[in-house]
Amino acid sequence: SELFGAARRNSRGWDLSEPQDLAEIDAARAPHRHTQFVAAPIVAGTEQTGDGAPVTNPAHPEDIVGHVTEATPQAIADAMAAAEPWAAPPATRAAVLNRAADLYEQEFGLFFALAAREAGKTLPDAVGELREAVDFLRYYAGQIAALDRPARGTFACISPWNFPLAIFTGQIAAALAAGNAVLAKPAEQTPLIAAAAVRLLHQAGVPVTALQLLPGRGETVGAALTSDPRIDGVCFTGGTDTARIIHRSMAENLAPDAPLIAETGGLNAMIVDSTALPEQAVRDILASAFQSAGQRCSALRCLYVQEDIADGLLEMLRGAMNCLRAGDPWDLSTDLGPVIDSEARETIERHVAQANADGRLLCRLPVPRHGLFAGPAVIRVPGIEALEREVFGPVLHVATFRAEELGTVIDRINATGYGLTFGLHTRIDDRVQTVVDRVTAGNIYVNRNQIGAVVGSQPFGGEGLSGTGPKAGGPAYLPRFTRPEAPTVAR
Ligand code: NAD
Ligand code: ALA
Repeated sequence: SELFGAARRNSRGWDLSEPQDLAEIDAARAPHRHTQFVAAPIVAGTEQTGDGAPVTNPAHPEDIVGHVTEATPQAIADAMAAAEPWAAPPATRAAVLNRAADLYEQEFGLFFALAAREAGKTLPDAVGELREAVDFLRYYAGQIAALDRPARGTFACISPWNFPLAIFTGQIAAALAAGNAVLAKPAEQTPLIAAAAVRLLHQAGVPVTALQLLPGRGETVGAALTSDPRIDGVCFTGGTDTARIIHRSMAENLAPDAPLIAETGGLNAMIVDSTALPEQAVRDILASAFQSAGQRCSALRCLYVQEDIADGLLEMLRGAMNCLRAGDPWDLSTDLGPVIDSEARETIERHVAQANADGRLLCRLPVPRHGLFAGPAVIRVPGIEALEREVFGPVLHVATFRAEELGTVIDRINATGYGLTFGLHTRIDDRVQTVVDRVTAGNIYVNRNQIGAVVGSQPFGGEGLSGTGPKAGGPAYLPRFTRPEAPTVAR
């Protein structure tokens, strides 16, 4: 899309219906099937070694994917002292980020293997993940020439495990594109893919003092970064509660003008009215609620179906869910991979067990017992306010409404305070505009699923409890990584 004027093309990706693409993927992934990877602090270009802790495959806990060494306070101090903003001319920065995008694409076998083994991503999700990472690199590279403001200095980039390559890369690419130094702290669950990405970014020409990697836990490494007055800005994606902790720490320790760019959670809803095409709605509900095992911030959490069609639609949904195949994300036939860790699975299981005890569980699919799988579930609720918080997994809540209640339903959705994604299925043209005008959400999708925003075409981000904006992959993002304006000089 040329929506925002920048000359740019999105990654071609891989077509999983093409036997030739599949054969290429199989051949490129195979060498990484049993490799043990390593992640350790990368400080001023030196990878620090140590006795790493094992990182295991959520689908096969006996598969050790690699080892991670947490950054010590000394490593953090060394990285902070070595950090140097990237002073290269704009054209050089753009060329390096574009080269990194090419290297990412060349290394698709490595990334697809790591996405499956470390993050439990199915192949379609792994393809989407790599494409988005590549798109971020090229999109921000394409915007550098138009930036007319200086870098801020050093950014802490703190990312989640559910987009361990795309969001990790997107944050870094934006901060670097604007000329900052980056201290990157990946999620504790997915440091291996992050280390592989940093090596490629260095290989592409990003200076080793402009990009350093500090793996480790949020409450140690993350907290050290967000409380250090030498940090000039924080780019964070993760839970809303974590964003609050970081915000507090920044307020107490950092300069008052250091920005927090936070993308957080959601309680995302979809409304399906009685004019919707049921087959289309069911297909899009399935993708929105259960793709990536529901582990997307954008995922559908609460479906509102108009009462007249609810029984039929839910029956169709149950039938479609029965066709989902849960299993090893390495296999192309798998629709549903594992959840990320045992803590996540326990939270989901507790939630579903409570619904079952309350007589609200409408259906649950069986999943393999071996590995960290959580069966997709559908739970009946009176309304979205019954969801006190985001349940980050394959759990869909369903409520019904009568035609005259549409406005109230939207008010109830808005009243959660979250505002990330929203879906609408209707064939009444006028209704689309009325609903869109009234819903407060960053990304609104009509008659399609509500996941998988495309860089440059669908800038992604929420409002309220869902994030600070500006939207990632959109024209307002990069300027936030620069100083607001040059000083006025009077003589
Ligand atoms: P999380 O908040 O637990 O962790 C995110 C990152 O923050 C990790 O790197 C973690 O180590 C770090 N962290 C944790 N405590 C910290 C602290 N005290 N100080 C500094 N850093 C700290 O989130 P998660 O479980 O990794 O990811 C899932 C969450 O992310 C969900 O809520 C999801 O909705 C959200 N998410 C939002 C978006 C978006 O674009 N809005 C995208 C993906 C995920
Ligand atoms: N950008 C991701 C999506 O849209 C989170 O699903």
